[in-house]
Amino acid sequence: MAKKVMIDCDVGVDDALALILAFQSPELAVEAVTGVNGNVPLDNVFTNIQKILSLIQPKKRPLIARGAAQPLKGHALYAHSVHGKTGLGEAKIDLKKGEEWWTLFTGPAHELITKTARQYPGELTLIAVGPLTNLALGLQNDLEGMKKLKGVVIMGGAIRAGGNVTPYAEFNIYVDPLAAKMVFESGLPITLVPLDATHQVFLTPRWMDEQVSPLHTPFSNFVIEATNYNIETHRFKNRENIFLHDPLAVGAVIDQTLVKTERFSLQVETKEGEYYGKISETEEGPKINVCLGVDVERFLKLFVSGLK
Ligand code: RIB
Ligand code: CA
Repeated sequence: MAKKVMIDCDVGVDDALALILAFQSPELAVEAVTGVNGNVPLDNVFTNIQKILSLIQPKKRPLIARGAAQPLKGHALYAHSVHGKTGLGEAKIDLKKGEEWWTLFTGPAHELITKTARQYPGELTLIAVGPLTNLALGLQNDLEGMKKLKGVVIMGGAIRAGGNVTPYAEFNIYVDPLAAKMVFESGLPITLVPLDATHQVFLTPRWMDEQVSPLHTPFSNFVIEATNYNIETHRFKNRENIFLHDPLAVGAVIDQTLVKTERFSLQVETKEGEYYGKISETEEGPKINVCLGVDVERFLKLFVSGLK
């Protein structure tokens, strides 16, 4: 039986790669995809979700819903420098009128999350790869519904590794630290996939040349365009490598032996200032699983298998 999952994302390039991996994996049944403001504004995120679903053409159309356009507190912070103007790098995907590879849920994302969790009590794993605003709204509006989730796998944070927005804070947490605090203190069965793990898995020009470019599938071609890889110069545009942050969170659900976890409680700095959005180990509060080790080779093989 495939594991039932839903994915909350801020499509961006690595979110798109995570969606491809999830839908291509026979181990997962993706019931729903929800959008949250993050890498790019919510409208772009939601359009990108539809574009990626048009590329994937899933046999079973997932429900999709729009989520928060702003963090609970503070201001949106976009990452166009990393994900490009649209959020899909240089990839161009046209939405064909009347061709909908999804079913639109007209309520907000957090309602779809708790509704789906209630529909499959104890069976649904929520994979969150953007800021955690929708999850916090789910806790605020239907805590009992959120408690019916089997698990919550979150890409975010940096424990012993440095941050990628400030020296201390990782993007998904930094955009909405108050939401992250609510989620980490909720007592939900959480597995965190922080930069400590995701910085170990990245696409190199060599991997692109040897494993991706030769595939010539719509997915491998998308990876080349979305990551701005130049097959002539064998380089990514203004970047060494491409971190597979969000795909690793999906990989950890497909095969939990790909990651090594430790259990500890986490606190989040929600006060403005130098440490805003920083996560640190603490004694009090519910313990969560934190991924610190990765079987890099096996994960990269799994990722490439999803492009075939
Ligand atoms: O810090 C990396 C995370 O922030 C990834 O989820 C990326 O898509 C951005 O949302
Ligand atoms: Ca993301």
